[in-house]
Amino acid sequence: MQSRIRNEKLKEKIMSPMEACKIIKNGMVVGTSGFTPSGYPKVVPLALAERVKESKEIMKLTLYSGASLGPEVDGAWAEAGIIAKRLPYQTNKKLRQEINCGKVEYLDMHLSHSSQYLNYGALPRVDVAIIEAIAITEDGNIIPTSAVGNSPSFLKSAKKIIVEISSKQPIELEGMSDIYMLENPPRRTHIPIEAPGDRIGTPYIVCDKDKIAAIVFSDLEDHVRDLAPICDTDRAISKNIIGFLEKEVALGRLTNSLLPLQSGVGNVANAVLAGLCDSNFENLVCYTEVLQDAMLELMLCGKIIKASACSISPSPKGLKLFRDNIEFFKDKIILRPLEISNSPEMARKLGVIAMNTAIEADIYGNINSTHIMGTKIMNGIGGSGDFARNAYLTIFSTSSTAKNGKISSIVPMVSHVDHTEHDTMILVTEQGVADLRGLSPKEKARVVIENCVHPDFKEQMKDYFDRACEVCHNCHTPHILEEALSWHSNFLETGTMKK
Ligand code: COA
Repeated sequence: MQSRIRNEKLKEKIMSPMEACKIIKNGMVVGTSGFTPSGYPKVVPLALAERVKESKEIMKLTLYSGASLGPEVDGAWAEAGIIAKRLPYQTNKKLRQEINCGKVEYLDMHLSHSSQYLNYGALPRVDVAIIEAIAITEDGNIIPTSAVGNSPSFLKSAKKIIVEISSKQPIELEGMSDIYMLENPPRRTHIPIEAPGDRIGTPYIVCDKDKIAAIVFSDLEDHVRDLAPICDTDRAISKNIIGFLEKEVALGRLTNSLLPLQSGVGNVANAVLAGLCDSNFENLVCYTEVLQDAMLELMLCGKIIKASACSISPSPKGLKLFRDNIEFFKDKIILRPLEISNSPEMARKLGVIAMNTAIEADIYGNINSTHIMGTKIMNGIGGSGDFARNAYLTIFSTSSTAKNGKISSIVPMVSHVDHTEHDTMILVTEQGVADLRGLSPKEKARVVIENCVHPDFKEQMKDYFDRACEVCHNCHTPHILEEALSWHSNFLETGTMKK
């Protein structure tokens, strides 16, 4: 492990996680590596949680990351009451509870904004960065592990740095990252990537070695999560999306290699991609945020030839697949800083096909990706907005019902808006596809009701829309305001949206 520290002088900084966590003081801002349960620090956060639990000292921190983190940080710190404020994304059950009962302040942000806020001075500087690394170079630069995320910006901003050298992350990851830093306006220039596979930066993150205050060794593996088995509904959604894309090819609007694919997170997103394995598309490329199992499988079967992302986020099965074939993946995957992987400039320039999942959508195409019944946060907007607003094709998909058919995921008015009707081009459920391009709000509503609403809710929805048109005298976006959110309140009162 000592050979992973290629600068002799820095070896003097090796210490135990318990020693290292003394650097973190109450009230500080901590920025960590990691993006999803991938590439995040583990032993130092666990040591801090243990110490705080035992000593009962007051420790309230602001925690920045690239996206969600594994249970050793988000879970353990939420349990120990360490997190006062969290940004820009989370998926941990305990942390979600703490946010939804007001114990933790949460900033749910467009992920591409997070490092930008920091670099522009809109967020307080990072006091301590804790970064998981494969190695430290002779010059003190950091070779990241399975996620790049916001680590470059945190290392730049941090007053002090703790490096966790991981023995579990394979040394073969070295060379997969491509680090390119953006200047702040007015010095910012265009990003010189012309295709997803282009490399434009360095394989290490530049780091001021004098700021490295501690180096610890970690033998903990990324706490990757299982994906739910692909169900018939997910399969039908996937089939509908693929059928839509095939039609676009037949119409000459796309070639058989499509355009760079971006795929969201979660079970549905993974299932959608898995369906591409049996499609006729070939030589696909990805310009996306995270690589889940299906992308890795599509690479192995030759469907996807290059993938740009900021993190590899597989299930335990996917992790094994990745590790067993790491040499195969090495020149096909490029891990970039979040600011580059999720750059709106890149999504627009490359003409990305953005496929993200909604919690609910309304008849006009507004999308709620983040809130349950309008008030309780689920995860966050993540990178969906970075891509949705700027893609060549913006597709949102959801199962037409939730909670055993008690909830219609297509509602008259969404209870929270993450993506507006102006962004949503294609809405897909297992029932069918609504192509909303070129349609006015009333035309959109008719297409969504016809193609996406579950049969159990179709008549109820038609009735709402017809009455809204009548009451509203066919105004631009017909609604009966006092009724528009009644489907949600009905569910909260009676346990079903059915009238
Ligand atoms: N009303 C209430 N609850 C709903 C719902 C609705 N209309 N639709 C889904 N849910 C609930 C499900 O019941 C499930 O709850 P549970 O955890 O208690 O079982 C939960 O939401 C997740 O739903 P699931 O169907 O398993 O979807 P998923 O794993 O594919 O995740 C999102 C869907 C929207 C939560 C997830 O994709 C997400 O967080 N997206 C936002 C971030 C994003 O898009 N990132 C991508 C950027 S690259």
